[in-house]
Amino acid sequence: MGINGATSTGPLGGPCKTKFHLLWIVAACLDRMRAVRGILVLLMARKAAVIGSGGQLGVELVKELSRRGYETIGWDRSQLDITDNRQVDSVLTPWDPGIVFNAAAYNQVDVAESEPLAAFLVNALAVRNLALACRQLDARFVHFSTDYVFDGTAGRPYTESDATHPLGAYGVSKLAGEIYAQAYLDAPLIVRTSGVFGPGGLRTARGNFVEVMLRLARSGTPIGVVEDHTASPTYAPLLAARTIDLVERGETGVFHIGGGTPTSWYRYAQAIFGVAQLDHEVKLHATSERAYRTAAHRPKFSALSNSRMESVGLAAMPPLEDALRLYFAAREKMLSSAQA
Ligand SMILES: NC(=O)c1ccc[n+]([C@@H]2O[C@H](COP(=O)([O-])OP(=O)(O)OC[C@H]3O[C@@H](n4cnc5c(N)ncnc54)[C@H](OP(=O)(O)O)[C@@H]3O)[C@@H](O)[C@H]2O)c1
Repeated sequence: MGINGATSTGPLGGPCKTKFHLLWIVAACLDRMRAVRGILVLLMARKAAVIGSGGQLGVELVKELSRRGYETIGWDRSQLDITDNRQVDSVLTPWDPGIVFNAAAYNQVDVAESEPLAAFLVNALAVRNLALACRQLDARFVHFSTDYVFDGTAGRPYTESDATHPLGAYGVSKLAGEIYAQAYLDAPLIVRTSGVFGPGGLRTARGNFVEVMLRLARSGTPIGVVEDHTASPTYAPLLAARTIDLVERGETGVFHIGGGTPTSWYRYAQAIFGVAQLDHEVKLHATSERAYRTAAHRPKFSALSNSRMESVGLAAMPPLEDALRLYFAAREKMLSSAQA
């Protein structure tokens, strides 16, 4: 007999301790419900659609879904412009997916300050188009959002229960997208992430922070990077895999998936040049928000806590250096296959 009457042989092994017994039954039911929910999700949603498949994350979602045996289609912007609701219906309906991933976004944080409507059209109103289409098709909806829904004053990695308070047009538009998804659907999955970098960025015009750093390094000019802003740089293939893991567990609601190491952009740049073995060649120095003003006001500390993701049984994200090594290996492979 344990303290307070709890048995040491488990809830069914000793005298009936009603309170603990009930709790155990509830826990077992929840566990079973989760398993049943997961199986139902798997059966219903083997047909997937990825919107924004030309982007860093979209490419990886298509790859990972196909690898796991989903019947997958990806549409890039030239095939489906999500701001056009008639196009959304006419493209999505014939495919009739069980699950829709929206990796499309307007991500130009500074430009959004001079064209907030353009950001709002893609990041908010178009999400409404997709949510309505998913409701019509009875499809699950997975949407991606950003650490920029926070104001960066918490001073510690943000959790899903922290209050949102975006500081600019991009963050406002992404938060509105989350709200639209939640308004029109009972159980969307919304994944907030941060500083995405993936090999897909080699092909896109905007690229990613790693490619910008490598380009600057090649030019030989001194590189100043802010040290007073912290985020969670996230490797796109791992973000795609963890998101699909959440889907396969039947999870819904808001989840954070950021990289494993909260880091300042300056330290991130240092890590990039370290892994690329360029640290002796580049002229990198730390700067600050004050010295490097941008059009958009950005959160100072927007690292994300992955504790909710880990609490449902998903593996922790690796440290930044490990993710960068994976990036450079994938990059190398892409470049050499392009040359072949
Ligand atoms: N990148 C980051 O650092 C970062 C940080 C936090 C959160 N996120 C979020 O993570 C998600 C994935 O981002 P990512 O890095 O993969 O972005 P990305 O590489 O910029 O890809 C976004 C894709 O969306 C497409 N797109 C834009 N407008 C569209 C429209 N009207 N219709 C259809 N497609 C459209 C873009 O096409 P075009 O290239 O033709 O414009 C691009 O292929 C997004 O929700 C983003 O907000 C990203």
